[in-house]
Amino acid sequence: MKYFIVTYGCQMNVHESEKIATILENLGYECGQTREEADIIVFNTCAIREGAEDRVLGNVGNLKKMKKKNKNLIIAVCGCMTQKEATAQKLMQTFPFIDIVIGTFNLPKLGDYIQAVKTGRQLEIWEEGDIDETLPYKRTSGENAWVNIMQGCNNFCTYCIVPYVRGREKSRKLENIINEVKEILKEGKYKKITLLGQNVNSYGKDLENPVSFANLLHEICKIDGDFTLSFMTSHPKDLTDDVIDAVASEEKIEKSIHLPAQSGNNRILALMNRKYTREKYLEIINKIKNKIPNCRITSDFIVGFPTETEEEFADTCTLVKEVEYDSIFAFMYSPREGTVASKMEGQIEEQVKNRRVNTLLQIEKELQMKKEGIC
Ligand code: 5AD
Ligand code: SF4
Repeated sequence: MKYFIVTYGCQMNVHESEKIATILENLGYECGQTREEADIIVFNTCAIREGAEDRVLGNVGNLKKMKKKNKNLIIAVCGCMTQKEATAQKLMQTFPFIDIVIGTFNLPKLGDYIQAVKTGRQLEIWEEGDIDETLPYKRTSGENAWVNIMQGCNNFCTYCIVPYVRGREKSRKLENIINEVKEILKEGKYKKITLLGQNVNSYGKDLENPVSFANLLHEICKIDGDFTLSFMTSHPKDLTDDVIDAVASEEKIEKSIHLPAQSGNNRILALMNRKYTREKYLEIINKIKNKIPNCRITSDFIVGFPTETEEEFADTCTLVKEVEYDSIFAFMYSPREGTVASKMEGQIEEQVKNRRVNTLLQIEKELQMKKEGIC
């Protein structure tokens, strides 16, 4: 019996697919190389932009023929997309050959749903849940080991679906994280630990005994072993000096910070509910540059947010030039149902978004060439 997992979206999903693999192997399945040889196919989905959802729909739809050939094939869909009740229902209706649709919080129970398939199709979406500490991960990322330190997000940036599909921030206990890192290092094959969370700088605030993110970093660095430590993702409003100092002073921490700005314009930043200004963002960037020379700095940007004018987009372009990022991701704004921004008037035409994203990527390309001394 073989399994095949199809993962969409961010590193958090990649890591969660490592948990899915554990669950499947505990049920006696082995890792398959292709969909064709699989007895169970699991789609771990993403909902961040419409394009991600369209890809899932296309790929799931393509399985109809395979299911016709092999009636025993089990098809399961989980992840951020199916946490939305309406989407989950629609998937079940549109694709009668799907056996299991579950939400993000139901994942640890995937094994139970698989075993229950013989009694009928399974659809369940819990509204919340604790971080699972019971199942290990089948690590698949070479020398890098992902370590989840928290789940959820409390920020409600107006464009973002994450708080709706991942719930409120919940941190793992410090000792559980430390023990996991120690176990990983004991295996001897991992050289890199990457801490994951939607908003790592908020780590520990919700714990019974609050711990700061900087504290967590220092505690992990104290663990014996030859490894580097990195983390993602940071929110500029929460990236405190003690975290910058930790990156600067701890030898084990990779000199690299991903700090999504999203826009370089203050009116748009306010509409996005980002809770910082361009000036404040630049202040943090300058602090990083001063305290951590040669720090790699990267960012995410959204272009074509509702009502964004050409002048406001130009502010994003000047920010990118001013910071001289090592690399950026630029996304066309994608309205997500249920978010505040999706209901805003002044949605921008696709064509305009497309042009803006290309402009931004061109600026990035020129920056790279300048850094590499090509022009
Ligand atoms: N449209 C486009 N990009 C988005 N992101 C988050 N939500 C949206 C959306 N609705 C981007 C942000 C975030 C990255 C992971 O995805 O830039 O930092
Ligand atoms: Fe989404 Fe904002 Fe939370 Fe990041 S901080 S996950 S962009 S709501």
